Amino acid sequence: MNEINLKPVQHAVFDAYGTLFDVHSAASRHQSRLGEKAQAVSALWRTKQLEYTWLRSLMKRYVDFWQVTQDALDYALDSNGIDDHSLRRDLLNAYHELACYPEVPETLRNLKELELGTAILSNGAPKMLEAGVSNSRLENVLDSIFSVDTIGVFKPAPQVYQMAVDQLGSTPEEILFFSSNAWDVSGAATFGFQAVWVNRFGQAAERLPGTPVLEIQTLDAVLQYLPSD
Ligand code: LAC
Repeated sequence: MNEINLKPVQHAVFDAYGTLFDVHSAASRHQSRLGEKAQAVSALWRTKQLEYTWLRSLMKRYVDFWQVTQDALDYALDSNGIDDHSLRRDLLNAYHELACYPEVPETLRNLKELELGTAILSNGAPKMLEAGVSNSRLENVLDSIFSVDTIGVFKPAPQVYQMAVDQLGSTPEEILFFSSNAWDVSGAATFGFQAVWVNRFGQAAERLPGTPVLEIQTLDAVLQYLPSD
């Protein structure tokens, strides 16, 4: 075991999009139809999707993540001068079948073998999350799926992290929370979770409050930091 000061944990809780599921796999699947705009559309789709969650939370105008995802795609296609209804439909369908990152199933299995509870805590609408979990065959390695749809506000509102605490009946610091989204790590760490930043793309640290207990590049790297008995 490597030396870091992790306090004892009961649950491993995961952000979904970008952390377990590769959000860019939808545009990759339709790369040939998007042509040279594939990367730009995918990046803007994700950026707008997140912005709309934050803005709607501030405005207290919640709609579920599926609506936000459609609105963000419409913006991204429009911005790139693409008007193609069947492509829009196929990109949205692909969002229900996002690929998970390759190390995800085995890592979740290993965490369960360490007798940690496993859960998703996500902005995603319940049906989207269920489809993603089932598409990647993660049902047997995940104990729970918590969606912000229950409370009608998006991350990083503290109520979202509180929901996991309430549902799991644990203290915040008994939760080891994983996100590839640095702003989500900030929200979770500020709330009191032990937050792990899965910095898949070597991004610079956000200048926001809350410090991760650990920064790793892929999820499986956490295993060397957890006691195995
Ligand atoms: C989620 C987004 C933030 O899954 O990635 O909650």
